[in-house]
Amino acid sequence: MKEKIENIKSQAMAEIETISDLKLADEFRVKYLGKKGELTSVLRGMGALSPEERPIIGALANKVREQIEESLQNKIEALSAKQQDEKLAAEEIDVTIHGKKPQVGRLHPLSAVLDRIKDIFIGMGFTIAEGPEVELDYYNFEALNIPKNHPARDSQDTFYINENVVLRSQTSPVQVRVMENTKPPIRIIAPGRVYRSDAVDATHSPLFHQIEGLVVDKGITMGDLKGTLEVFVRALYGEEAKVRFRPHHFPFTEPSAEVDVSCFVCNGEGCSVCKGEGWIEILGAGMVHPRVLKNCGIDPEVYSGFAFGLGLERVAMRHYDIDDLRLFFDNDMRFLKQF
Ligand code: FA5
Ligand code: MG
Repeated sequence: MKEKIENIKSQAMAEIETISDLKLADEFRVKYLGKKGELTSVLRGMGALSPEERPIIGALANKVREQIEESLQNKIEALSAKQQDEKLAAEEIDVTIHGKKPQVGRLHPLSAVLDRIKDIFIGMGFTIAEGPEVELDYYNFEALNIPKNHPARDSQDTFYINENVVLRSQTSPVQVRVMENTKPPIRIIAPGRVYRSDAVDATHSPLFHQIEGLVVDKGITMGDLKGTLEVFVRALYGEEAKVRFRPHHFPFTEPSAEVDVSCFVCNGEGCSVCKGEGWIEILGAGMVHPRVLKNCGIDPEVYSGFAFGLGLERVAMRHYDIDDLRLFFDNDMRFLKQF
């Protein structure tokens, strides 16, 4: 029996050396020291021993047990320390590394210019109106005196959802919606997205922004229109900015004009951006057609008004000296960071 206990001891001591993690250490404990472990089962056989042998064997078994327990405890401590070291190494934090600065966003140049334009018109007593981007044909065309066969309705220009619904091709339908619901005096601007199936180039995009303006009151004249737009252009671009009114035709204004500013790339010399013209068209305008007033329930014998529709991208290009409108929509941070 003594020999058996010695065997268990040397076997256990050898095995303890091979333990490489805490789970194996626990398995070892069960195997040698547990209730059904090897040492315990030897001690269970003690009944067969003589009374003289019993205390000797008992003492030996206890001593071996203590030795195994002590070695195991040392092993467990060594393994825990090693595990802790590894964990700390893996989680090491270098407190001397510089922090990452959060990136601060900024307004898109189109938003910044729109805010500026809103400020100028609000300063002149205008309020802001809105209308839907998916619009009824009636508001986008019919009520604006654009009959069914007008070229502006050509499917080349306008995105149709169905026969009666379009992606608005201009912000002018907001004029109608406002006049239907408001008694004059009216003084609004209506900024928003518009859509046209135009070919993309440096000054054209299928999605762009317009700012509609509408003033309706007693005794409004073309002089009010010119004065308002001149004040606006000078407030935006400075006193030296040149403006040109060109006679034009819109079905919903009479008379009508297009307004150009001197080209921001060549300053009027003529270049590829202004297509040799020296001028860039930024808006269409005119006196609200009496038929449009009537369509909206406003008596053209009592009231008159002017309206304009400004291309935001063109204005922003002039404002920041940008020679290609596609840059506004590319979302290239190198471009956007400059504003
Ligand atoms: C109109 O859309 C009229 N509704 C403007 C108007 C309003 C006239 C009220 C009279 C009274 P026009 O199609 O010319 O007009 O467009 C107005 C402006 O939008 C242009 O001067 C130009 O600055 C801009 N624009 C037109 N097409 C594009 C495009 N594809 N990309 C970028 N800007 C455009
Ligand atoms: Mg035009």
